[in-house]
Amino acid sequence: MTFLVTGATGTVGRLVVEELLEAGQRVRALSRNPAKAALPEGVEVVAGDLADPGSVAAAFEGVVGAHLINFAGDDYAPLPDGARLVELAAEAGVRRVTVLGGRADGPLEQALAATDLEWTLLHPVEFMSNTLRWWAHTIRTEGVIKEPFGDRLSALVHERDIAAVAATVLVEGGHGGREYTLTGPEAITLREKVAILGTAIGTEVPFVELTVAQARAKWAADGMGEQTIEFLVSALGDTPEIGYTVVPTVREVTGRDARSFAQWASENADAFRE
Ligand SMILES: NC(=O)c1ccc[n+]([C@@H]2O[C@H](COP(=O)([O-])OP(=O)(O)OC[C@H]3O[C@@H](n4cnc5c(N)ncnc54)[C@H](OP(=O)(O)O)[C@@H]3O)[C@@H](O)[C@H]2O)c1
Repeated sequence: MTFLVTGATGTVGRLVVEELLEAGQRVRALSRNPAKAALPEGVEVVAGDLADPGSVAAAFEGVVGAHLINFAGDDYAPLPDGARLVELAAEAGVRRVTVLGGRADGPLEQALAATDLEWTLLHPVEFMSNTLRWWAHTIRTEGVIKEPFGDRLSALVHERDIAAVAATVLVEGGHGGREYTLTGPEAITLREKVAILGTAIGTEVPFVELTVAQARAKWAADGMGEQTIEFLVSALGDTPEIGYTVVPTVREVTGRDARSFAQWASENADAFRE
């Protein structure tokens, strides 16, 4: 069977591609820039821009299931015409769809809910992989983490588990009309996260807790805009319960335990070493 993966060059999509290949499926990957996609051999990479549904129509042909992102562009803006994308998928005979959810359901999710496609919405909490973007450079160059909210809990999820759920849902079916929150196996504090990472790297990484005022000043000095700073203060300072409540969905869908942050840290330790 052939599956279409959008966002296939991204953190989660790249792993959805791998999981589908490992399951013995054929994969078609969508990218705005196929020449730069660098995906595994055997993957059919096709050009398309989700902001322009017409450019994606051919990619749905001959596809049993599709993994969709719900944004277009590097600023994660909601898809301008998600409903048209859904129409095109249905017209092409696509039967199953997974959606990598973001902050809120948008037109894509609403359009899917009105079809008889077998759709499944995936709502992961914080990705473990954010640690690379946020901390790898700082730990390599300064060897210390300075952040506010040291006791903030997160049930952060391994990006490969998100991909494994998507691939299982697409290949096996039976998850239509479901919305799945995806978490890791435990909720850990920021302090614990730093300690776990230090153990994986083999060096103690000190954690210095900033006050909110100090954090605001640091983020502004790092070049963040006022809106991003406000978002961080509210998202990190007041994480919704869903962000730190462990759920068993990864195990229930894939049959495997969700991967721990210790496992993620050991897999990625080299990125944090000088
Ligand atoms: N990070 C977190 O903690 C977190 C938590 C929960 C949910 N999420 C959600 O996860 C999603 C981000 O996933 P990710 O981190 O895997 O993405 P990512 O690594 O940022 O990759 C973005 C992908 O989107 C594709 N893309 C962007 N605009 C496109 C367009 N107009 N047409 C076609 N493809 C387009 C890119 O493909 P090309 O460049 O090859 O075209 C790329 O593969 C967001 O919806 C976010 O809200 C993130």
